[in-house]
Amino acid sequence: MDSAQRAETPLATLDHEELVIRRGRRTGAYTIVAVHSTILGPSLGGCRLWRYESSAAAARDALRLSRAMTFKAAAAGLRLGGGKGVICAAPGGPPSGKERRALLHDFADTVNVLGGSYVTAEDVGTSARDMAAIAERTKHVAGLSTARGGSGNPSPFTARGVEAAMRACCESAFGSPDLRGRKVAIIGAGRVGSQLAKRLSKAGAKLLVADIDDSRRERVRDLPGVKWTDPSSAMLADVEVVAPCALGGVIDQVNVGKLRCRVVCGAANNILAHEGLADDLAAENILYAPDFIANAGGIINVSLELNGYEPEKARAGARGIEQTMRNLLQEAGEAGITPLAAAYRLARRRLGEASG
Ligand code: NAI
Repeated sequence: MDSAQRAETPLATLDHEELVIRRGRRTGAYTIVAVHSTILGPSLGGCRLWRYESSAAAARDALRLSRAMTFKAAAAGLRLGGGKGVICAAPGGPPSGKERRALLHDFADTVNVLGGSYVTAEDVGTSARDMAAIAERTKHVAGLSTARGGSGNPSPFTARGVEAAMRACCESAFGSPDLRGRKVAIIGAGRVGSQLAKRLSKAGAKLLVADIDDSRRERVRDLPGVKWTDPSSAMLADVEVVAPCALGGVIDQVNVGKLRCRVVCGAANNILAHEGLADDLAAENILYAPDFIANAGGIINVSLELNGYEPEKARAGARGIEQTMRNLLQEAGEAGITPLAAAYRLARRRLGEASG
């Protein structure tokens, strides 16, 4: 069975604890929460505000993303389960003003139905400000601004964690974790990608940075060692590390054989169009850092909010991803499996220990 066939295997993993779909009483919009697992603790996962083709597509997204959160939290050693929220936005631009607030309050009602087994936070399409609006109707919310005693913007912590993961990957691939002089292509110069560029530039790496939005160039223009290019050139560039920091699915059946890097390590969720590609990358001798390990800095940061937020603990947690990744690569090497398979093993072990 090749990796494309494996990708078509039906979803045999519908093993979620709860799925709540409600039509909001204020707006009539569908709001959805999927709780995959609370074995390790309350499920934590961002609230995505997005325009979906259908409410079924939105529910599918919530189911898929909540499951990924279970593995991310477990592998990061957090006492948290996996959940995800979705708000189905109406066609047109992102809602604003009163309409947005009503939508967020409708979502808060759905969060309350779960009675605390799901805690929401920011995600694609939502911000710390939106979390403040949600907090007007439910206490099961994290990701509030630092001014309100929350953990604030997670992106710097995510970038810190990706850099930490990259060091462990470089150590494994090149014999040294030092990033000085390493050629790295960053695809996506958004909140995480631009922070990562700053960190890697400071560490002495030589960077190619790309984004479909050319205005993002301003964010990295003055950094030493940075060149700007277009996303497809960056992906296939002659660099040592490719760091996808935009949307998911950037490594697919078509480009997997054309990559020239030795390491793929970035922040994007679901970097691989399907997970069978992890085997294809290994066959090409490319080290793929599992995304849910490399990008866990953000959830480590927000998780600390639940027991009294301390930024230094968040920084230490994100730095700790280097050791997690090192252990994982060692286990993968010893067992003759991919780092992705080793990451699932680690998460399943933690879930197994917790469920006795
Ligand atoms: P963002 O929305 O701030 O930045 C994404 C950037 O990617 C934008 O500048 C956009 O123009 C660019 N982009 C979109 N499509 C592109 C393409 N085809 N080629 C090149 N650039 C493209 O998002 P953010 O917060 O920086 O997140 C980036 C990724 O990391 C997402 O996949 C997100 O799910 C993931 N992530 C983010 C975390 C965080 O703390 N912000 C935590 C964990 C994962």
